[in-house]
Parts: sequence; C-alpha cells; structure tokens
Amino acid sequence: MSVVAFVNQKGGCAKSTTSVHFAYWLFHQQRKVILVDADAQRSSSIWLETLEDPVPFEVIQSAEDLLAKIPQLADRYDYVVVDGPAGLSDATKNILFGSDLAVIPCQPTGVDLRSAADAIALIRQVQADREERPQATIFVSRAVKGTRLKDEAMAVLNNIGVPILNTVIHQRQTVADTFGQAATVWELLGKASVEAADEFDQLFREIMTLLPRSSQSAASPKK
Ligand SMILES: Nc1ncnc2c1ncn2[C@@H]1O[C@H](COP(=O)(O)OP(=O)(O)O)[C@@H](O)[C@H]1O
Ligand SMILES: [Mg+2]
Repeated sequence: MSVVAFVNQKGGCAKSTTSVHFAYWLFHQQRKVILVDADAQRSSSIWLETLEDPVPFEVIQSAEDLLAKIPQLADRYDYVVVDGPAGLSDATKNILFGSDLAVIPCQPTGVDLRSAADAIALIRQVQADREERPQATIFVSRAVKGTRLKDEAMAVLNNIGVPILNTVIHQRQTVADTFGQAATVWELLGKASVEAADEFDQLFREIMTLLPRSSQSAASPKK
C-alpha cells in the first residue's frame, strides 16, 4: 500500500541501515512489510537474512524489474521499504516512479548536502510526471554529537524546498555494529543502543505521519 524509498546517490549516508531498521520496526508492529533491496552490494538483504526475525525481503535490481515489481508488491503488502542503490540511475528513477514517499538520508557535510540537492532534482523530475508524487523528505543522518555541522546542515536543508524531519540520527558505534552483530539496535545492550533505538523510533513515527493510515499508537520493538 505505502511505498517508502530511501534514496541518495551518495554511498554511506545510511540508506541500508535506515531501511533495515524501518522494515524491522514495521515488522514488529505486525505490519505486512517487505524490504526491496535495490543495491548491487545487497547489504540490506544479507543483513535481514541474518536476523532471527523473518522480515520479508526481495532483491530487485534492474531498472525494468523495479518499475514492474514495486507496484505488484505494493498491492500485496501494507508497506514496501526500498533500499535504494548508489547513483542516480534509471533504477533510482523507476523506484521513485513506484514510491509514495522518498526519504533522503543526508550526512551533515558540504559534499553530502550537494548530493541531496541532486537527489531532490531527480525527485522533482518524477514529480512533474506524476502529479507531485512521490512526496519527499530529508533527515540528517550520522551527525556527530558536539559538532556545529548539524545546525549548519539544518539551515542549508531548510532552504532546499523539501521538508526536513525533526529527528536527527546521531553517529554511534552501536549502530555501526548492528550489521556485524546480525542485529538491530533494539537487540543490542547498553545506554547508547537505547538512545539509538529511541532516535530510530522517533524518526519512524515522523515518517509514518507522512503516510496514509498513519499509526500514532505504534509500539517500538521489545528489547
Ligand atoms: N547512525 C550511525 N552511526 C554509526 N554508523 C552508522 C550510522 N548509520 C550508518 N552507519 C554506518 O555507516 C556505513 C554506511 O551506512 P549504510 O547504511 O550502509 O549506507 P548506504 O546504504 O547509504 O551506503 C555503514 O558502515 C553503517 O554501519
Ligand atoms: Mg546501502
């Protein structure tokens, strides 16, 4: 029903990490969710394969398949979470053609702000053909605590013409550890994991408010 794509041509901005956490979060709310891994590195599907919980996923990488299959999955699932590839190829464009909401994770540096602007330009092209769909939003990812970059990035992003989410996801070793630990932050122990889990929880609640039938009473996965 709702297709949410995490897109940004810049590698390392946290598309896969956020996609996997979002799919897991929805799964734990008994939502019918599937993750589409559209990236050649296959990190999100490999990651989901290692988790104890059987979060459904499908690897779809060619531009043609993405165009044809995302709408089919949207008919069968309540939520389709797409982990976008690096680059602004036809694959990314076709993902946008099938999406209701495009979420752009953006690290708070000059290079990353530029690439977010390029992603927005591509989204605008698709919106022009699709009566303003998909909706687009940005969030600041991997912000280092105690630096001013985040505030500067927020100021730049506020002028970019796309709504920016209030939640900032901070850089934390525990988040970097999740893939190697075959886990999400909800399974890892320690204060930093709880803080990271709270941030993801807040981010996903914000994303849900942008989707139809948003759930205000959603519960986060249990530790
Ligand atoms: N909040 C975070 N704190 C620390 N490391 C992070 C965070 N988010 C992502 N990472 C790490 O950054 C790297 C890139 O993230 P990834 O999700 O693979 O980005 P992308 O899919 O956009 O290339 C990975 O090693 C991941 O573990
Ligand atoms: Mg990735």
